[in-house]
Amino acid sequence: MAATTSAASARGLLLCVLVAFLHRLQFQIPPVAVAAATPKNKTESRDGHGKTLSFTLYQHETINRTGYIVVDGVAGAGVSQTTTPFGTIYVFRDDLTVRADRDSRVAGVAEGTSITTSLDGLQSMSLAKITVHHRGHRGSVSVLGGTYNTKPSDYPVVGGTGDFAYALGYVRSSPVDLRGRTVTYKMELHLYWPPYAHYAPVPRKA
Ligand SMILES: *[C@@H]1O[C@H](CO)[C@@H](O)[C@H](O)[C@H]1NC(C)=O
Ligand SMILES: *[C@@H]1O[C@H](CO)[C@@H](O)[C@H](O)[C@H]1NC(C)=O
Repeated sequence: MAATTSAASARGLLLCVLVAFLHRLQFQIPPVAVAAATPKNKTESRDGHGKTLSFTLYQHETINRTGYIVVDGVAGAGVSQTTTPFGTIYVFRDDLTVRADRDSRVAGVAEGTSITTSLDGLQSMSLAKITVHHRGHRGSVSVLGGTYNTKPSDYPVVGGTGDFAYALGYVRSSPVDLRGRTVTYKMELHLYWPPYAHYAPVPRKA
């Protein structure tokens, strides 16, 4: 059941850092890290066709602790290792770590929801906000897309905030370990800034 519900939902990934967490991070960053905050690995191509940035984090979800079914489904498949009934709404807020090991450094949080949208219980619509503080980058990426519970899912990036403002691209979520109460997904972020992003206004800090 743990794997089930998690599988159903987790694929919509997202993170969001708690205010307290942010504050803590803020005060922990040595000046050196702040300097590195400029898009180090956002490489700008020579012909000016935008910038790219890729990195991988690991999402950990524990049923009834970081993810819950908040609305029961109404039809089709039952709750199983990989399925949830049509209409099930699942909500999650999962830590993102730098390695598959759950005890490795937390570099962000994914918060979002999944709604089961197939009668076989294997597919859902997922939306999520992935908040990241990693390798000198700080901000969030929002994704929206379909999840297939038993395969890797690619979510289009619909936008971002902070260092990820105007980012496009995709996030791929793949199951690493679906057994047990806590399930782990590998989350690969592949971001791209189109040329116009260079000229776009950036919101002032709220
Ligand atoms: C999670 O909580 C629900 C509602 O209390 C319960 O029915 C379900 O068995 C729990 N799942 C697990 C894996 O503990
Ligand atoms: C940037 O990318 C290079 C290789 O492309 C890698 O060696 C380096 O560790 C990365 N730096 C950061 C800050 O991620």
